[in-house]
Amino acid sequence: MTDPTLIDGKAFAAKLRARIGDAVPDFVKAAGRKPGLAVVLVGEDPASQVYVRSKGKATVAAGMESIEHRPDADISQAELIALVEKLNSDEAIDGILVQLPLPDHIDDKAVIAAIEPAKDVDGFHVINTGKLAVGEDALVPCTPLGSLMLLKDRLGDLSGLDAVVVGRSNIVGKPMAQLLLQENCTVTLAHSRTKNLSEVVRRADIVVAAVGRAEMVKGDWVKPGAVVIDVGINRIASGVEGKTRLVGDVATAEVIGHAAAITPVPGGVGPMTIACLLRNTLVAAHRRAGLPDPEGF
Ligand code: GUN
Repeated sequence: MTDPTLIDGKAFAAKLRARIGDAVPDFVKAAGRKPGLAVVLVGEDPASQVYVRSKGKATVAAGMESIEHRPDADISQAELIALVEKLNSDEAIDGILVQLPLPDHIDDKAVIAAIEPAKDVDGFHVINTGKLAVGEDALVPCTPLGSLMLLKDRLGDLSGLDAVVVGRSNIVGKPMAQLLLQENCTVTLAHSRTKNLSEVVRRADIVVAAVGRAEMVKGDWVKPGAVVIDVGINRIASGVEGKTRLVGDVATAEVIGHAAAITPVPGGVGPMTIACLLRNTLVAAHRRAGLPDPEGF
């Protein structure tokens, strides 16, 4: 990746994963077992299958135990919650991730609420979102955590900067805003109903786009010198018959002329999500074993 404007999330994530891998043997020595991550994939959603496969591979490559459960799409909510409860009480498991989206007949919130907060490596349980909001040690959602790491790597101290987060999801937008606030940014959480969105974004030193709308943030929305994190992954027609391509929520080619730095899609935030999942699993394993948090993560 030669353009210095592009933030190489893939390379950053590879280094983070290598550091996690280096820390695992110390945990194994102290705890007498590997950190364990259980991933539950309900049904056969093709995109979810790809994610879950990558997570499993990365977990094993870091020296951790990967446990996969793949119940059929017609599993009942009660059966899925019973599976989560079994994983909660399994001493060998430090992290539980239930891949979303779940089939329509299952209430995501009820399933997330059933996960033991100390094993909630997605950081979606209200105990963890509440701890994040009040500034206590929480397990923090992986995509915003990875985005923050890239921002701090590029900008150093974020204190006093204007940050605009576009998108108010529980998975990305809201926790991202909390993390940026903790870093002493002045945070605006914008969304689909925000008036004059382009003007709001133009004020920002930091833009995080997490709306799920292909190439919505245009070049002239971005203040010269801003740093842009593109969380979007949208599949659109490529112009070639029958072919599609991946784009983010930002019109990258246009923004490159304005921004100081931007994460590409793919190869930006995406690889950071998996690296942070391993980071959260390592942290959860230490806390569950009564060990101090691993240093440098
Ligand atoms: N589906 C898309 N992203 C995520 C994620 O970060 N965690 C889970 N559990 N499901 C997802």
